[in-house]
Amino acid sequence: MTVVAVFNQKGGVGKTTATANLAAAMAKNGLAPLAIDFDPQAHLTALSGLNPTAKDTIYGFYQDKHALSDLVHTLPNGVNFIPSHMELAKVDMMLSQNRRDLRRLKKALVDEMLSMDGVPVLIDCCPMLGVLSLSALIAADVVLVPVTAEYLALNGAQQLDQTLRGLAAKGIKRPRKVFINRYQRGHPTSEKVALELTHRYGTDFCRTRVFESQSVLEGIGQYQDVFTFAPDSEGAEDFSYLLDELIECGFIKVSM
Ligand SMILES: Nc1ncnc2c1ncn2[C@@H]1O[C@H](COP(=O)(O)OP(=O)(O)OP(=O)(O)O)[C@@H](O)[C@H]1O
Ligand SMILES: [Mg+2]
Repeated sequence: MTVVAVFNQKGGVGKTTATANLAAAMAKNGLAPLAIDFDPQAHLTALSGLNPTAKDTIYGFYQDKHALSDLVHTLPNGVNFIPSHMELAKVDMMLSQNRRDLRRLKKALVDEMLSMDGVPVLIDCCPMLGVLSLSALIAADVVLVPVTAEYLALNGAQQLDQTLRGLAAKGIKRPRKVFINRYQRGHPTSEKVALELTHRYGTDFCRTRVFESQSVLEGIGQYQDVFTFAPDSEGAEDFSYLLDELIECGFIKVSM
């Protein structure tokens, strides 16, 4: 099993876009992934076309003690999905940073066997390091970090590294990989950020670059992943290659 937290403390770097499109790529390859919207902004939920009441979302798991498996919807693209709701913001304030609360998501994924062998789980995190994000990092086996071709996104990745070092000191070691998103070939900032990422992260920086793509952007406008919206586009190709790379290097373990 691999549970992947998609996280960067910087907002707007493509966490939700990557979760939606990597999950769609997995479904296209017959992997029936589980994607969890773990962000009170509920952008992934909006993209899914669902409009659930709070209790039927991940908020219901925390507030009403619903089983995670009772909250799963299967989307038309084959992705199993647990939605979110803006009420989830209350959970971030309600829960303390005690061990039991922070481990609730992990325990449920294991107890309910939602992260069984070969079924990848993707968690779309919010752009803040609160109880929710810490819970996601603890539930995860690995962390995938999108970085857009801008300097502040590099800062976000650096802050995440500090957090991961803090967790590792407590015995919770989570490998991470970084990929560049919204890359523009020949654009000076894109090239500088890509160079800096290569320098900083070495083999933990993905070879695959996800380009700035009209199909990705337009697909989101139509509430569709890029494989549904434009299956032959470069955007679809980028997310396919990114998934291939993450599987080939053993970062995401699946049984095909
Ligand atoms: N490769 C891409 N090509 C074009 N547009 C993109 C790409 N990746 C992301 N975007 C756009 O960038 C914006 C931010 O992306 P997204 O919402 O996925 O970021 P996020 O990290 O989840 O944000 P937040 O931190 O608020 O949750 C969206 O409008 C999205 O459509
Ligand atoms: Mg998001």
